[in-house]
Amino acid sequence: EEFDFGIVGLGVMGRNLLLNMADHNFSVAGLDLDAEKAASLEKEALENHTIKGTTSAEEFCGLIRKPRAIMLLVPAGKPVDAAIKSLLPFLEEGDVLVDGGNSYFPDTDRRVKELAEKGIHFFGMGISGGEKGARFGPSMMPGGNAEAYERLRPIFEAVAAKVNGEPCVTYLGQGSAGNYVKMVHNGIEYAIMELIAETYDLLKRGYGVEDSKIQQLFAKWNESELSSFLVEITSEILEKQDEVTGKGLLLNYVSDAAKSKGTGKWTSQNAMDIQAPVPAIDAAVQMRDISKYKEERVEASKVLKWKDNSETSEEQIFEELTDAFYFAMINIYAQGMAQLFIASKEYNYGLNLEEVAKIWRGGCIIRAACLEDLRQAYTKTPELPNLLMDEKLGKALQEKQGAARNVVKTFIDKGIPAAVFTSTISYFDSYRSEILPTNMIQAQRDYFGAHKYERNDQEGIFHTEWV
Ligand code: 6PG
Repeated sequence: EEFDFGIVGLGVMGRNLLLNMADHNFSVAGLDLDAEKAASLEKEALENHTIKGTTSAEEFCGLIRKPRAIMLLVPAGKPVDAAIKSLLPFLEEGDVLVDGGNSYFPDTDRRVKELAEKGIHFFGMGISGGEKGARFGPSMMPGGNAEAYERLRPIFEAVAAKVNGEPCVTYLGQGSAGNYVKMVHNGIEYAIMELIAETYDLLKRGYGVEDSKIQQLFAKWNESELSSFLVEITSEILEKQDEVTGKGLLLNYVSDAAKSKGTGKWTSQNAMDIQAPVPAIDAAVQMRDISKYKEERVEASKVLKWKDNSETSEEQIFEELTDAFYFAMINIYAQGMAQLFIASKEYNYGLNLEEVAKIWRGGCIIRAACLEDLRQAYTKTPELPNLLMDEKLGKALQEKQGAARNVVKTFIDKGIPAAVFTSTISYFDSYRSEILPTNMIQAQRDYFGAHKYERNDQEGIFHTEWV
């Protein structure tokens, strides 16, 4: 038998994607070293499925039609290299290998090079949407060889999420373009999650609003221009009762020390490398880090006090939060997209940001109604360096900035941390500042280190003995 496609790694993601492909009438072979996982695969087959599981790389490669198309769904890092190594003896020139994990993009560039020497096309492809997405329609972000992508296109377009009939997958660019776009997707994911957490904190701790009322707010938002997957799941989380104690919301028993697997941190780290400012993402990463210092925070909470002197009423905050949230959310997307704009030039990815916005409209964690507006901004101006300069979005932000400013004042008056909220306002204010005070920094650098400076009234490089 000749199978259309192969999947290596039959964990939840691999298995679900495999079944999704089988739903769409593709025959798929699965490889996993764990005999139990390989054997149980076929038991899950529906009537119209053609699938087969094996623990042998040789048998697996023998099952797939040539030139082969194989996807790896194993944890990022060493497991990817190990999987490639186990397949290599049985692969041939022209085969396509797709890494569907959250791999660090420089690793992908290295693998692309190593495998190209053997005539094998290696793809790094971000997949978003979690387990459900994999099973019923994820957003997929592939990068690699453009010609080889044509062989993957039919199967990827069939299994991807659809928005108005358009699949949430497209060829993004060469090399590690796919992993890079997914990395920034996750950076945006971190920032919006933190934005939601801050909103919840202001209402609950700052105003003592009942959980059910906060739940209603998020549910209402999900019916508005703020409609998005993360807002939607937040309203559901705020309904889930605790089954262990039988008393109150489960959320109230979840530890506040946040974990992470690294993709948000990579986004910030690389943003600094290529000088793409993404303060909201930086702040979101930092808040997860601060959350880890639980014991110190407990001690500090006993000594570092603040008396609330907020003048904003609960009614006013409810009204203004909606606009403030929109303002911050668009700012977050603008920062992430601007990073992609800069990275695309830096790494020659050739990214089309309209396509990126398009495939993020469905299937992925950061899907949101506003992505259609983002997409249209790039349709209008493909080389738009920053979404804040789109006429429609810019106008909306101008109208909502007053509310955002008031909400941030309230956070500060109440002593509730608002790292992401505040960072979006200072990003907006920096970006729209014709003049920044960085002339002072240049003067200081020249004062203490003779680092020289440029003047704004004449050409040349200057140094001054300041005293
Ligand atoms: C997605 C998610 C997914 C995963 C993150 C979680 O798009 O489906 O981003 O890739 O849930 O890696 O990341 P942290 O563990 O770092 O929060």
